[in-house]
Amino acid sequence: MSEFPTIADLEETVAAIRAKAPGFQPKIGIILGTGLSGMGEQLDESPAKIVMPYAEVPHFAKSTVIGHAGNLLLGYINGVPVMCMQGRFHYYEGYSLNQVTYPVRVMAKMGVKGLVVSNAAGCLNADWQVGDIALITDHINFQGTNPLIGPNKDFFPPYSTRFPDMSDCYDKKMREAVKEVAAKKDLKLREGVYFAMSGPSYETSAEHKFIKIVGGDFVGMSTAPEVIVARHSGLRCVGFSVMTNMCVPGVVADHAVIGDVGRSAGDRLVPLLRDSLPGIAAQL
Ligand code: HPA
Repeated sequence: MSEFPTIADLEETVAAIRAKAPGFQPKIGIILGTGLSGMGEQLDESPAKIVMPYAEVPHFAKSTVIGHAGNLLLGYINGVPVMCMQGRFHYYEGYSLNQVTYPVRVMAKMGVKGLVVSNAAGCLNADWQVGDIALITDHINFQGTNPLIGPNKDFFPPYSTRFPDMSDCYDKKMREAVKEVAAKKDLKLREGVYFAMSGPSYETSAEHKFIKIVGGDFVGMSTAPEVIVARHSGLRCVGFSVMTNMCVPGVVADHAVIGDVGRSAGDRLVPLLRDSLPGIAAQL
């Protein structure tokens, strides 16, 4: 991919995926974050799932962070045809936001209608606990840049306008569908605003204070660019954050611990997502 993706790039990527999964039509795209790659194991074996390492996907970057597998998975979860990114690309890895969000455009070009994103996040709300799962209600993009900067990529009219609307970014109806499932499971589900930083350094205490004041409930280093491009591509989005650490003075943020907490929360998030997928798909 050159500086900006082209329709020809997308067509080449989609052709390579379709060659591996002829006739398969995914409805939902899923991006699995830190420690949540276990969701990839939820893909049914029959009909056979397809695993494509990112190295085999034309124009995909390669994921470099420990704890992030790099595979594109195609198949069914709970009867819903999905296209799943097991591992994502982050801005702090040095990729351009065009590279970070390229898979989202590929999903849209594949005909996906909805996007599920998940991530690990630091928790600003002192009343919540490590391991809590939150539905993202909105985000504040504080990465200092925007994936849509550059010539407008009008790949998905009428959505991909120069100045796309970002209200109801995290689809209310899809959130309701997830909340219904969580209530039936008696699973505690938080809700709040995701605050996106570029990273890779974790925040200072002053930044934590600032994030709280301006309305962030939890903070992470991903998701916002993907959701911006998803909305620009006409996809409806739902997002989950796992509170992997408390952002309070005296608590040190540790990537290894964050990965472990993410994985153990996966034991609750994976079944929640699995059971919610049909309800999410019903909205599309
Ligand atoms: N800050 C930023 N990103 C994160 C954190 C955090 O505390 N925890 C997990 N991802």
